Amino acid sequence: MAQQIDNIPRRWDPIVKLTHWGIVAAIIGNALVTEEGSGWHIWVGYSLAALLALRLLWGLIGPSEARFSAFPPSPSRALMHISEIRRGEVARHKSHNPLGALMVYAIWAMLGIIIASGIALSGPPPADPSANHAQHEGEAQLAGTIALGEHREVERDDETTEDRAHEIAGEADEGEENILVEVHEVAVNLLYLLIALHLAGVVFETHRSGRETIAAMIPRWNRTRP
Ligand code: HEM
Ligand code: HEM
Repeated sequence: MAQQIDNIPRRWDPIVKLTHWGIVAAIIGNALVTEEGSGWHIWVGYSLAALLALRLLWGLIGPSEARFSAFPPSPSRALMHISEIRRGEVARHKSHNPLGALMVYAIWAMLGIIIASGIALSGPPPADPSANHAQHEGEAQLAGTIALGEHREVERDDETTEDRAHEIAGEADEGEENILVEVHEVAVNLLYLLIALHLAGVVFETHRSGRETIAAMIPRWNRTRP
């Protein structure tokens, strides 16, 4: 339950801070640094999954303000929170405010979709992170297509049922992969939108409440200031 008590200093424990900034770093890494689908992209993706898993576990066993029970996803509370904003009231919350809570769950859900589609595409992380998964697959597919074309030209007249079955299976796999790539890409773009809203919300809340919202998420800054 989100508490609305004055003078509660906003504090996030080290695991919340570590997972928050680790997830931020991994998203920036995969969005701007690693090559899409490369070995590094997959390794960073798996690290992101591990950080998210740690945070979700912390939501069950961590300190009270980090627990899911401290910030339940509740549209009715979020609406009440909007009314408070309209009235200019500033209630203090020990954990995320009800609007922020919805955003947090939306970000986590989107990360879940990105991770699931990414892992379905990549399989286990490659032993050599510098190996380019997507490129290799693309090259293999291209080589396969060329070979298939040559094969067809030479043996067009006596195409066997086996050839046709392989062709259909290949097309089905490719179709499934295309859908996963599409899901991955759309979820990534929706995540960017949520991040923009999250940042706007953090700035707005900091300005409105006068609390050190951002400082509370930065290691050590909140030791002395509420
Ligand atoms: C939030 C973090 C992530 C971001 C921003 C991101 C971004 C992207 C983008 C933009 C693409 C190109 C999609 C396209 O071809 O249109 C891509 C492809 C890919 N991503 Fe991610 N990704 C993330 C997380 C992950 C994770 C967690 C994994 C798996 C562990 C993963 C595995 C892949 C793979 C295998 C591809 C290549 C798909 C293909 O065969 O074309 N990604 N990613
Ligand atoms: C990739 C970009 C980002 C993502 C995906 C993200 C995601 C999240 C998530 C999931 C939470 C909930 C934390 C938890 O309970 O474990 C959170 C909280 C928070 N984030 Fe971010 N964040 C991003 C960038 C930032 C940046 C750049 C800042 C600072 C300017 C920031 C400031 C905060 C603050 C202050 C909170 C706590 C809000 C509160 O007091 O209720 N975030 N963020």
